[in-house]
Amino acid sequence: MSLQIPHRGKTNGVSPSTKAVILVGGSSRGTRFRPLSLDVPKPLFDVAGHPIIWHCLTAIDKVPTIQDVYVIGYYEESVFRDFIKDASTEFPNLSIKYLREYQALGTAGGLYHFRDAILKGSPQHIFVLNSDVCCSFPLNEMLKMFREKDAEAVILGTRVSEEAASNFGCIVSDPHTRRVLHYVEKPESYISNLINCGVYLFSSDALFPSIRSAMKRRADRPARLYSYPSSDNLENSFIQTNDDDESRSNDGVIRLEQDILSDMADNKTFFVYETKDFWRQIKTAGSAVPANALYLQKAWQNNSEELAKPSANIIPPVFIHPTAHVDPTAKLGPNVSIGPRATVGAGVRIKESIVLEDAEIKHDACVLYSIIGWNSRVGAWARVEGTPVPVTSHQTSIIKNGVKVQAITILGKECGVGDEVRVQNCVCLPFKELKRDVANEVIM
Ligand code: GTP
Repeated sequence: MSLQIPHRGKTNGVSPSTKAVILVGGSSRGTRFRPLSLDVPKPLFDVAGHPIIWHCLTAIDKVPTIQDVYVIGYYEESVFRDFIKDASTEFPNLSIKYLREYQALGTAGGLYHFRDAILKGSPQHIFVLNSDVCCSFPLNEMLKMFREKDAEAVILGTRVSEEAASNFGCIVSDPHTRRVLHYVEKPESYISNLINCGVYLFSSDALFPSIRSAMKRRADRPARLYSYPSSDNLENSFIQTNDDDESRSNDGVIRLEQDILSDMADNKTFFVYETKDFWRQIKTAGSAVPANALYLQKAWQNNSEELAKPSANIIPPVFIHPTAHVDPTAKLGPNVSIGPRATVGAGVRIKESIVLEDAEIKHDACVLYSIIGWNSRVGAWARVEGTPVPVTSHQTSIIKNGVKVQAITILGKECGVGDEVRVQNCVCLPFKELKRDVANEVIM
């Protein structure tokens, strides 16, 4: 008989009882992340110097009982290959695998489809993380609550303003016990300002039977149009079903938010762990700027060695990739990330922005509240700027002259801004040359 030694070094002989799943969606999702998602899948977009899903893995790596991580989506396998190879070296305690759905199955449908892989080794608990959120992922605290309450499910929640709440899944909970009493996804009227952060911990025994019951309920319903309101892609949110039960339960998208959570509130021991730390969604391309700021601030609080040392011209937190070249007279920060091989000329000012790989900012240019795309060029004395929005507003658009515009200016891949040109609150698609001043426009 061979003795099985846990692969995980940190477990000190305790067998890994927890697994983690990161939901990444697919190429038909993340449309609000355009034009940036035209060139890089949203989960691999760099914020604070690392791909969005790297931040999820960093949090998962801090849970001693997790060894297996599944990245589930319907992107082609090749999309995550290099990332997973690099991440496996960087997180040697984790075994990371990409599982590809044959089509979009929904946030619960993908989990169910891969249940055999997930349940292999009989894990007791499963973390599920949406990849499109930015937070400190307090997974150990959620696990602690799960054990203390002898729960079947724990959801991460945060408080937002009453006006913002109806854009999210809303949780009504018992203020003393923290038990979830009621869950409604994007309610039409106000029920609570405690919202779903898109991070869950389920007991294996509760999760899959709940999905199975939801599938059964779906199959038992008469054939009709199912509507899932998703601002991401309205055309794709109507799924025509037919009379064939088999194909209905197989093809119908099953979503945790709409199909599972409210039922769990009624039937399961379901609790909410309320985080007081930062949380933001990463939906629109502009939302990468506040996410970048929040992760940089966290890294700064943790004295991360990766950040640039503060100086007269570096206002922390600032991340500068080791291969980037920043002139010592350029003033950067706060909340700035400079990507690989980017060049920043003399006298440049950059604040609250992301400058991506191979971009060039010429001397005396100014970049504020903006994202400068891969290989883009900003001319000398040019000004590329967005408008600040309070982090608490959970918005990346503003009203200017009665028109809704993007608060963050975004230059897609290989754009050019001429010398002395001013670009304000614009989204610029890849390969565009801006030779005159523009404001409040989408440049196609
Ligand atoms: P809204 O927030 O309602 O506008 O919808 P959304 O499409 O922007 O996000 P949703 O809540 O549907 O997705 C949450 C997370 O799950 C994101 O990280 C998505 O990439 C991911 N996701 C969404 N649908 C699927 C799916 O069919 N399969 C997989 N594997 N992941 C998905």
